[in-house]
Amino acid sequence: MIGDQQRPRRNRASHQIRELVAETVVDRRKLIMPHFVQEGKNIREEIVSMPGVCRVSVEHLLKDIETDYKAGIDKILIFGIPDKKDEVGSGAYDRNGVVQKALREIKKHLPGVMVITDVCLCEYTSHGHCGMVDGGIILNDPSLELLARTALSHAESGADMVAPSDMMDGRVRAIRQILDSNGFDDMPILAYSAKYASAFYGPFREAAGCAPQFGDRSSYQMDSRNAREAEKEVILDILEGADIVMVKPALSYLDVISRIKRLVNVPLAAYNVSGEYSMVKAMAKLGYGDEARLTKEVIISIFRAGADMIISYHTRDIFTHGWF
Ligand code: PBG
Repeated sequence: MIGDQQRPRRNRASHQIRELVAETVVDRRKLIMPHFVQEGKNIREEIVSMPGVCRVSVEHLLKDIETDYKAGIDKILIFGIPDKKDEVGSGAYDRNGVVQKALREIKKHLPGVMVITDVCLCEYTSHGHCGMVDGGIILNDPSLELLARTALSHAESGADMVAPSDMMDGRVRAIRQILDSNGFDDMPILAYSAKYASAFYGPFREAAGCAPQFGDRSSYQMDSRNAREAEKEVILDILEGADIVMVKPALSYLDVISRIKRLVNVPLAAYNVSGEYSMVKAMAKLGYGDEARLTKEVIISIFRAGADMIISYHTRDIFTHGWF
């Protein structure tokens, strides 16, 4: 019979042959673990919608990072949750802001850990938007200076890489310029380049208390209907000086990840966001699926699509359970 020469099942007959023919090999060294650090002392609050993820004050953060480091996790992303918020997000670029303090402590006690910082204003603004606001409008250019100051203060406090997530136009250039003119020309920028306005950020907003107080983020984050526009955003960020570009969220945007991978030759990150994590945790909790298998399939799919690295809240579980 025609076609009988090829029987794809031959390559699936044993776990050994499946290992040999596997096209995607997950390397745990390409995972980044996010953390939420909160101003204050002795705070550890589990985020209800994200089982296993907590908001912690600096001393608990150090403990968590140290435990993770012993398990092999040496790349982290940190988000700050300040005590006070204001119109202009002062806490974001305060020398004694929560992220800046955390950076100094991490670098002092755990110098082997690479720390990436999220550069944005939304956790620090009273209105919850990622830039400055005037009369209900999110202002672009006036926000750039504040974002640049935020990135510089992270660099001065010991960050290894800065990751702007605000989606204002021109922020990568503004950050590159301020870093260069202050002697941080070696500091890499991981740009959230194709960041979509997504319902999958819901749990994060609970975690960071940064839901917008009016309107939504669709005047600056991307429209989920657009993929070609992601190419434009990525190219602009590279021209402005991004060293690594990112697609976010990951699972509903696997096609975007694979387009960007083909389009450009800079490393590509993907953010496996809070809602994607919560879905897996919720399924596992309800008994609708096996957590280990679900998590592995999620992570494999993002690498298979073309990501070179993944930011994922599953990182700790993956290391502690030895899932890869
Ligand atoms: C802040 C920021 C957000 C996320 C990362 N940085 C939230 C948002 O844009 O609303 C989402 C991360 C996640 O959902 O895990 N600008």
